Amino acid sequence: MTLLDGKKVSNDIKDEIKAEVDKMKANGEKVPHLAAVIVGDDGASLTYVGSKVRACERVGFESTMVRMKHTTSEIELLHKIKELNEDDNIDGFIIQLPLPPQINTQKVLMAVDPSKDVDGFHPENFGRMALDMSTFIPATPFGILELLERYDVDTKGKHTVVIGRSHIVGRPMSILMSRKGWPGNSTVTLTHSNTKNITQIISQADIVISALGVPNFLKAEMVRDDAVVIDVGITRVEDETAKKGYRIVGDVDFENVSKKASFITPVPGGVGPMTIAMLLKNTLLAREQRKG
Ligand code: GUN
Repeated sequence: MTLLDGKKVSNDIKDEIKAEVDKMKANGEKVPHLAAVIVGDDGASLTYVGSKVRACERVGFESTMVRMKHTTSEIELLHKIKELNEDDNIDGFIIQLPLPPQINTQKVLMAVDPSKDVDGFHPENFGRMALDMSTFIPATPFGILELLERYDVDTKGKHTVVIGRSHIVGRPMSILMSRKGWPGNSTVTLTHSNTKNITQIISQADIVISALGVPNFLKAEMVRDDAVVIDVGITRVEDETAKKGYRIVGDVDFENVSKKASFITPVPGGVGPMTIAMLLKNTLLAREQRKG
């Protein structure tokens, strides 16, 4: 079994990005600038955005965290987005999800200038991804592709089963794994809460990508020998013995599934850190494209 070490690979990617930024600085060029908008004070969202800002510092990017109160109206958020779209100093920005219920998420995501949409959530970018055109690929699926590539995992002609059809992970992942090229060229089954015989389908998978958010959902008896197992689950579970009072738990029963898998991602330290590294990569790309 080979551990797909997202922590290590993400550090390698950050080092590569930092080297690019150092070159930009040496040439007297402007460095990439990422802004993150967070509406409300959800603990998990604040933690994620905090990690994104720290990652920017680590590679030498500029970053701005825009905090808005949980009662922010849709109009107020749309105004902020317009400001960021027009701010020449900002190369890319993200709107941290989920948004409070008074705000229409699709409407907000559509207001982001596609050339600054480093999350790849704008319909134009999502469409470009589906059509194999160059674009910002959503960071989590992008991170999974990068892990498969750096560990030389064979995906061609394999049966990939994706669990979960979210706009952020499952849906784009299913498209990317079916694309021509590598990593890709898989035969993909996208499963979700209405899928019948899901355990039977999973048992036929060469590659399982679980983005469900149900702790320990995927058990050893559900996966084939030598399967490649990617765990996107990040559920917070209360744990009084943990420093922060909670632990992050994946969808996969790692202890037992790892005995059968050929490659597997741990949680934490697998897909999570890759997501942040790929957001930085998209921001670097945004900066380069703005230079023209
Ligand atoms: N919420 C959960 N994942 C993400 C992500 O990748 N980007 C944003 N903006 N919000 C999220």
